[in-house]
Order: sequence, then C-alpha cells, then structure tokens
Amino acid sequence: MAQLTIALTKGRILEETLPLLAAAGIEPLESIHNSRKLTFETSSPEVRLLILRGVDVPTYVQFGAADVGVSGKDTLLEHGGHGYYEPLDLRIARCRLMTAGLVGQAPKAGRIKVATKYVNVAKRFYAEKGQQVDVIKLYGAMELAPVLQLADEIVDIVDTGNTLRANGLEPREVIAEVSSRLIVNKASMKLKHYQIEALMDAMESAVNEINSGT
Ligand code: PRP
Repeated sequence: MAQLTIALTKGRILEETLPLLAAAGIEPLESIHNSRKLTFETSSPEVRLLILRGVDVPTYVQFGAADVGVSGKDTLLEHGGHGYYEPLDLRIARCRLMTAGLVGQAPKAGRIKVATKYVNVAKRFYAEKGQQVDVIKLYGAMELAPVLQLADEIVDIVDTGNTLRANGLEPREVIAEVSSRLIVNKASMKLKHYQIEALMDAMESAVNEINSGT
C-alpha cells in the first residue's frame, strides 16, 4: 500500500483526534506529547503522522506534502480552502469565531479598528456587513487590544468566554461555529482512494459513536 501522511497539530486537536485515529487502527508507536520529533511512525506501517503548527496544516495538505490533515474550521476559513476537500466534521475542539468588544461599550459606527489573527475572515465578515474596518494583525493576546485602545473590536475564537470576561470584554457577533475537520488533498483522494476512504469511514463511525448520546 502507498504511504499515507496525516498532518496534525499539538494541543486539544491532537488529544481528541488520537482516539479517532485509533478507531481506524492508527496509533503512534511512541508518545507524541513529550517529544520534539515532528514525524511519527504508527501501528499501521504505511501511515505516518506529522506534527505541525495549526495554521500550516491546510498548506501541507493543499500542496500534497500531507495527504490528510485535521484542522479547525477557523483555520480553514482563514486559509481559504484551496486544494483540498473537507469531507468530515470530526465534531471536536468546538468553539465559535466571534467579534468582541469592551463590556458595556456600544459598537462604534463608522470606520473601526479590528485586531485579530484572522485577517481574511475579519475582512470578509465586516465587508459583508458593509462596515469599513482597518484590520490590525496580531499573533496572540488579542483581548488586550481594546483595553489598550489599539482596536475597537477583536475577532477571535471563544470557547467558555473566560478569556473575554477576565479581560473586561464581551462577545458581540458570531461569525462561525468552529470544530475540527478532516481535510484531504485533492490528488491524494483520487490516487489513494481506498486507503483514504477506509480511514474516513472508520473515523466517521467513531465520531458518530462518541456523539450518539448527544
Ligand atoms: C484561544 C483564544 C482565546 C481562548 C478562548 O486561545 O485565542 O484566548 O482560547 O477560550 P475561552 O473562551 O474558553 O477562554 P488558545 O488557548 O487556543 O491559544 P492561542 O492564543 O494560541 O490561540
């Protein structure tokens, strides 16, 4: 069988993806958590795992450096979705992509400043609303931007809302519901069809089983 390369990212997505891969007979041969390695052999000799930065997963899959990847919908929306299929919602790492601003401050009319690492998502969202924005690219700690008057609003992912609350912010509008998706390189889907279909079927059954009580 052909070599199958699956791109993952450390953190919550990895924790919740490993049981789904195990259901497909794919388990890393050594612990990923404490290792600095970036590639891992698995119990399935033809399958190897890559551990990447989250934002890089769609790029590896787009160009076929990985056949398959697991990526948050937020990352996919920002990336733009070129060069891969998105056949399966894994229903893990769920959260929302939202706008937020200072508690009690009415949304400003006219041109506003928006701080985010989701530059493309933010531009699209505000353009569709007909609101003019200057988007300021940040790489983290977005919640500080309105507090220090760097921006009027932020666009970020919200899970429990604790990070917003802890920094005097409140959620405003939902841009998208987020969960992790299986993505597949378009050429790999043709060339490695049976392998990838078997993987998708096993993962889909595991997803359905995990969510059958909800
Ligand atoms: C995300 C996001 C928020 C936080 C939201 O950061 O940027 O800071 O989670 O979660 P909450 O609503 O439950 O507080 P994450 O921890 O993923 O790290 P990041 O800053 O690297 O994205």
